[in-house]
Amino acid sequence: MDGFETILYEKKEHIAYVTLNRPHALNAYSVQMRDDLYEVLRAIKDDDEVRAVIVKGAGDKAFCAGADLTEFLTAPSATEARQIRFRRDIWKLFLSIPQPIIAAVHGYILGSGMEIAACCDIRIASEDAVFGLPEAGLGIIPGAGGTQTIPRLIGVSRSLEMLLTNRWIPADEAHRFGLVNRVVPKGEHVKIAEEFAFRIASFYPEAVRRAKEAITKGLDMSLQEGLELEKRLVLKRESSDVL
Ligand code: COA
Repeated sequence: MDGFETILYEKKEHIAYVTLNRPHALNAYSVQMRDDLYEVLRAIKDDDEVRAVIVKGAGDKAFCAGADLTEFLTAPSATEARQIRFRRDIWKLFLSIPQPIIAAVHGYILGSGMEIAACCDIRIASEDAVFGLPEAGLGIIPGAGGTQTIPRLIGVSRSLEMLLTNRWIPADEAHRFGLVNRVVPKGEHVKIAEEFAFRIASFYPEAVRRAKEAITKGLDMSLQEGLELEKRLVLKRESSDVL
């Protein structure tokens, strides 16, 4: 699977690598990137050979500097620009991927860049990472799931502070917030993400998928419903006799 304009896709030893590839524009998220990412994620979802996914950004300066502002400026209005983006429900697809997804992030991680990272399950940050939500300052609000996914990661008041004041936070603060799992020396984020991915890929794929499902779906349920979900997944795994 290749030939995408804005994404590089590679599969090696059960790991899928998705690279946001518009380094000249700090990997800004464009309509074309939405379409490319959608195709790639759909393929990953149906590919049982893929046991873990790494999402990263090309170039030295950024994982992703947010929505492509040139598209916003040329659309008749910001709302219209966003309606175009909503024609494909990429965020729902992203959050429905059964395999674990690791974001390996560096440099600027802004707006939809931060939201893409928030759609992933584990985040590994290079020490030069800077996170921010500039949307409110631009007269819009996050539209890539961020108003829902980010508070689930860092809590309500930290999310509101970031969004309402547009204060950008460095990697160590993102770590204290619980936004990233690890901060690693500059340039080592992909290597460390690979170590995570290889370890995950060495486990029983079905157990890994069920564990992810139990935790991510359970979060949206009451404790009782979550316990029922866990029970269903435990029994499903045992009856499929994978261990
Ligand atoms: N959309 C489109 N192009 C973008 C972009 C975006 N969100 N962010 C950066 N770029 C482009 C710049 O226009 C520039 O292109 P050029 O070389 O053709 O002029 C290139 O990427 C490099 O960016 P530049 O601004 O020169 O880098 P910098 O190091 O001086 O500043 C940032 C980096 C991230 C501080 C700055 O680019 C920025 O503020 N970007 C916009 C962030 C934003 O508001 N995102 C939207 C969130 S909703």
